[in-house]
Amino acid sequence: MRTDRRSLLKVALAAGAAGGTSFPHIWNRNADLAYAAKGELKVGVLYSLTGTTAIIESSLNHATLLAIEEINAAGGVNGMKLVPVVEDPESDPATFAQKARKLVLSDKCVSVFGSYTSASRKAVLPVFEKYKGLYWYPTLYEGRECSQNVIYTGAVPNQQQKDFIPWLVRNFGKKFYLIGSNYIYPKEENNVCKILLNQLGGEVVGEEYVPLGHSEFGSVIQKFKDTQPNVIFSTVVGDSVVALHRQYKAAGLDPAKMPMASLTTSEEEIAAMGGDFAAGHFTSAPYFMSTDTPENHKFVEAFQKRWGKDKVTHFVSEPAYFQVYLFKQAVEKLSADNIAPETIRKAAWGQEFRAPEGLVKIDPENAHTYLWPKIGQAQANGQFKIIEQVKEWVQPSPYWAYPGEVCTPSGLVEKKV
Ligand code: ACM
Repeated sequence: MRTDRRSLLKVALAAGAAGGTSFPHIWNRNADLAYAAKGELKVGVLYSLTGTTAIIESSLNHATLLAIEEINAAGGVNGMKLVPVVEDPESDPATFAQKARKLVLSDKCVSVFGSYTSASRKAVLPVFEKYKGLYWYPTLYEGRECSQNVIYTGAVPNQQQKDFIPWLVRNFGKKFYLIGSNYIYPKEENNVCKILLNQLGGEVVGEEYVPLGHSEFGSVIQKFKDTQPNVIFSTVVGDSVVALHRQYKAAGLDPAKMPMASLTTSEEEIAAMGGDFAAGHFTSAPYFMSTDTPENHKFVEAFQKRWGKDKVTHFVSEPAYFQVYLFKQAVEKLSADNIAPETIRKAAWGQEFRAPEGLVKIDPENAHTYLWPKIGQAQANGQFKIIEQVKEWVQPSPYWAYPGEVCTPSGLVEKKV
């Protein structure tokens, strides 16, 4: 039986008068159609192209645009073309929030792919939660969050630190110096490191935070010399990574005796500093450019063809790329009149994709991603030699270091009693 719009409206009004909920539902569906207007879907691309974290965020912009272009070249999403709306939030959390508001409210982007620092994610979070947008965040981060308006595709501490810290203790010793940039991510990540070191009988001989964009590490390096740690655990980000490595080498320190172990030093920062400055240091991550899978060879080749032969891929640009494909798969499960941030979010849960690092999956429990942790040692050619890797993907556990906290369906942190 064919039901036209007028009779649908009558049914809805009758249901509304009887206390039913069909009436608003009809208007929601019409509103949702706006997201798929003219056979196009707008998506936001919110990575800093200027400022202190542009060094890494520019490559996230590139990885996202590459995936969008590939998807469009292959026919789009259910025949709809993806239209990227690119903004530059200038490595500034307040500008992130302002641009996020524009992308959600004015541009009506059905999803936004964005940000590197946890400070910028925390800044955009209230925008996505208030206006019911959907944010896809590709960066490794500290966990202890499970917003209903975010899909998290980067590693959380149980996918980076859990095996890394015991491995460092076994191979180098128990004395750690913690050096990080001064914001939420390094502080939380260092708290996890301290919990692990405590279990292993380890010791923190120094803990220091430098401002974002910091470039003078002379006094910090003197403290490394004075305290003689076995491992320098670094969560320094952005341009500062380059300065820290260069000044470490200039001070005559030796990675064979006092290596830096990082969660944030990727092939991108190494390309900027020069491979000689990174050689011998360690990073833990689910992806390195040297990963030997057919999907990775294809990704690296496509990335370099699009953005330049000398360009590198790394453990944040890889999720920035594959999360666009997860988004595509989620949208493909929906009819055109039902495409909205909320429906995409639900359709994304449980999606799997054969990514460059291996098969990944969005955990329907917490909207984080099953990943493949590895430990790599930087080489003078700017690549990581993979020296340890898991045999099975690792389930994301954003509250792993804090067993008293759990993620609830509403996304709130709850203390177990
Ligand atoms: C980070 O701030 N999540 C690297």
